[in-house]
Parts: sequence; C-alpha cells; structure tokens
Amino acid sequence: MKVVVTAGPTHEPIDPVRLIGNRSSGKQGYAIAKALQEAGYNVSLISGPTCLKDINAVKMTRIETAKQMLIEVQNALPADIIICWAAVADWAPEYSPQKIKKGSGDPQITFTENPDILKTISNHKQRPKLVIGFAAETQNLIENATAKLHKKSCDWILANDVSENVFGTDENHVYLITKSKQEDWRAMSKAEIAQKLVAEIKDYFK
Ligand code: CTP
Repeated sequence: MKVVVTAGPTHEPIDPVRLIGNRSSGKQGYAIAKALQEAGYNVSLISGPTCLKDINAVKMTRIETAKQMLIEVQNALPADIIICWAAVADWAPEYSPQKIKKGSGDPQITFTENPDILKTISNHKQRPKLVIGFAAETQNLIENATAKLHKKSCDWILANDVSENVFGTDENHVYLITKSKQEDWRAMSKAEIAQKLVAEIKDYFK
C-alpha cells in the first residue's frame, strides 16, 4: 500500500533572509515514515526544512513553503493513506524581494492564509482511503481536536497537547480520535507512537 506522509515545518519567506514558520523538529513525522517503511508500506515523505537525514527506501521530497508542500502532496497521489503530520504555517507573508532594512520604523507585514493541505486532500477527487491528521492544541484538547476532525473531513486525528515542551524531544503524548472512539495513548517515545499508529493502520485495513 502507498502512504504519503508530511512532516516538519514549512518556512514562509518574508524577504531573502527572513522567514516565519511553526516550531517542529520533524522527529515524529519521520518516525512514522520509518515505521511504515519497515512494515512494508511504500512511503513518500514530503518534508519541510529539518535537520533530519533522509530515510532509507523512503521517497523523500523536500520543500520550503506550504504551497510547495500542497503541490508535492497532490503529485504523490493516488495513495491509499495520507498522514498529514507537517506543522504547516497557516499564513504566508507578502514577500519582499529586497531585504527589508532597519531604520524606517517597524515593518508592516501583510499575511494571506495558506492552503490547508489536510482539508484539501480530505475533499480531493483522489482522496486516499484513510486520511489522518494531528491536532496541536494548548487548551481543550479533545474538544478542539474533535472539531478539527469534522472541520477537515479526515478519518482520524492524533491530538497532541503542545502546551508542555514537546518540540524536538523524543517523547510525546497523543490521543487517537476517530468518528467512533477516543483513546489515550499515554506518554511514550515518538518511535513507539509510530509503531502504535502502524498497528492501528494494519488493523483498519485487515
Ligand atoms: N494542516 C495542513 N495545512 C495547513 C494547516 C494545517 O495540512 N495549512 C494540517 C496539519 O498537518 C495537521 C492538521 O492540519 O494534520 C491540524 O493542524 P493544526 O496546526 O493543529 O491546526 P490548524 O489547522 O493550523 O488550526 P489552528 O491553528 O486554528 O488550531
């Protein structure tokens, strides 16, 4: 089966030297891609900028921006499963081709909303059979994550409380939320979460 995984942040340039982006090391998304590859899936990983190395036998595509990520995800279809784990920047600043210089007051930057990759693929004519996203929340975790599941028309959400420091660490605590169940997966390593997700996916397609 073919799986597309997105991981890492996206970087949205402000000018040739500056950017905005979300905090993400890419570790959890890469761990998921690796676990799927080891379980025999054909994996395409579409990654924003990270310090992580390519994964053996995984088709790697590296991008910078949300718009580039959406194009590459669409190019990777058809697929049986998509796991949108990237921390996509929600807004792109208006780009200045020249470096913005200091000294003329605080810059006024206008932003436009980026495409929502998970939502776009959930409603795509080539929608994979299983569409999985995450929800990074700092409050009302289950309530907000369940709302996201419906708003983005995906099948499963892994909900993550990011009010504690999870970025760049090797541990994570997620909840699996589907239309029919909610499970607390407790704190475990990112590699263990990846294994548990693979087991859940195998079970779903059995
Ligand atoms: N996502 C996406 N494209 C975006 C924003 C988010 O594909 N432009 C995906 C993420 O990969 C994740 C899910 O949507 O699977 C939820 O991301 P999250 O950052 O929790 O939520 P947002 O949609 O950004 O909503 P908000 O910031 O309002 O919580």
